[in-house]
Amino acid sequence: MNPSQPSRSDVVEVRDLVVRYGAATALDSVSLRVAPGEMVALVGPNGAGKSTLVNTLTGILTPAFGSVEVRARIAQVPEGRQMFGDLTVDDNLRLGAWQLRGRGQSRRKQRDTSWVYELLPDLVRVRDRKAGGLSGGQQQMVAVGRALMSRPEVLVIDELSLGLAPLVVADLAEHLAELNREQGTAVVLIEQNARLALDLCSRAYVLEAGRIAAEGDSADLAASPDIARAYLGEAQGLPSPPGAHDPGPDDPGPDDPDPDDRATADLAPTVGTAETARGNQDTTVQAARAAAREAK
Ligand SMILES: Nc1ncnc2c1ncn2[C@@H]1O[C@H](COP(=O)(O)OP(=O)(O)OP(=O)(O)O)[C@@H](O)[C@H]1O
Ligand SMILES: [Mg+2]
Repeated sequence: MNPSQPSRSDVVEVRDLVVRYGAATALDSVSLRVAPGEMVALVGPNGAGKSTLVNTLTGILTPAFGSVEVRARIAQVPEGRQMFGDLTVDDNLRLGAWQLRGRGQSRRKQRDTSWVYELLPDLVRVRDRKAGGLSGGQQQMVAVGRALMSRPEVLVIDELSLGLAPLVVADLAEHLAELNREQGTAVVLIEQNARLALDLCSRAYVLEAGRIAAEGDSADLAASPDIARAYLGEAQGLPSPPGAHDPGPDDPGPDDPDPDDRATADLAPTVGTAETARGNQDTTVQAARAAAREAK
């Protein structure tokens, strides 16, 4: 089996998806896959179709054409958090389990929120407060915790960092990495901060004007000058991981005779380099913490 190709074991497989709002086409022939336990980033400018794509994955929107197969339990942290502001944090969390079927003892276990507090300990001291009165970062943690309560195998997060301070984002990123590492939860992460998304996830898709403009290994994409210029706010990409090709100033660029060395917009999907991404996660979190400390 070619590991770069979609496989029946993928937890999410989207093929040639077209989604429309009335006459307007928001997604045009989009294909995407997520393997079990994989962290996949979805980056792109405002209006590119990122929310439309994840809302189609979770069944909120219906495709006009193409196919969406989700072969695992999926939960979404929606854009804008969408708390039940008048309910307590604990009640918001428990609502996340409402779709799970269970009776008696097993139902009580499903509604037990203690493991979520272990994963997101900042929520412990606000557990009895109304969610509407929490800070943005705390609300985002509740939104993540609520999604986790449905015991997803795939967690879809629409804008992790929107409106949050760098330190809070670093914490959330750390929690996600831990969840992925310890529970094997696959993550689809939409994130305006492309550097964070590419550091945290092993594979990424770049969506532009409703089409996949680039996809592949996150480290390769981050090293692509086009991606770096458009999304990382710099002329050079991220430093390459050890052993990876490092395009220097003499790099022949798109005419490079070795196609395997390209990090361009037409990369075929590859299996993510989980180890690289995990190494990067630590660096990202540390860098964000350092930046936040300096900003204080
Ligand atoms: N309910 C809607 N009705 C009509 N058009 C919509 C609707 N929701 C989104 N669109 C349009 O579909 C396109 C994709 O929007 P979408 O919200 O998916 O983008 P996005 O990548 O999530 O953007 P952002 O980064 O701003 O959240 C945009 O042109 C948007 O204006
Ligand atoms: Mg959006």
